[in-house]
Amino acid sequence: MATVAAQPWAYTLQLPHDPRAPGIARATLRAILRTYGLDELTPTAELLASELVTNAHLYGKGGPYGLRVGERPDGGLRVGVWDANPQIPPPFVGVPVQAPQGERGRGLLLVQACADRYGAYPLQQPGKYLWAECALP
Ligand SMILES: Nc1ncnc2c1ncn2[C@@H]1O[C@H](COP(=O)(O)OP(=O)(O)OP(=O)(O)O)[C@@H](O)[C@H]1O
Ligand SMILES: [Mg+2]
Repeated sequence: MATVAAQPWAYTLQLPHDPRAPGIARATLRAILRTYGLDELTPTAELLASELVTNAHLYGKGGPYGLRVGERPDGGLRVGVWDANPQIPPPFVGVPVQAPQGERGRGLLLVQACADRYGAYPLQQPGKYLWAECALP
């Protein structure tokens, strides 16, 4: 039975500071996109969520973090991740990511390259919310 959502939808997943949490976040994202018939967005959306959630786990000051997956009014997707660290890294601060010198520093370069739009805002808790969007092909 096909079900059409009457209005833009969003799902929110609160994650504990547990090394299994990024994998659970990715699996949840895949389930959401499969259920909504948006499999074509899965590769890009999973990359965006994976890099942002893994960073939240690594750099989120050991606190809880979370994933929000929401439909955009134009049918694209916004992936948002919050954590307890108020520091906002490039490219979300408005300056582009520099080419990495070593093995690390590729995650947000990929986000910068693959997202159609991205942004950030501080949270009061304290912490911040980073978001990245991918459009329907
Ligand atoms: N959520 C975050 N909060 C605070 N700082 C962050 C956050 N995410 C990234 N950073 C900072 O930005 C840097 C670049 O992040 P990026 O994901 O590109 O590389 P990385 O995590 O160091 O390595 P990898 O290539 O494995 O992802 C990090 O090393 C960290 O200093
Ligand atoms: Mg990273």
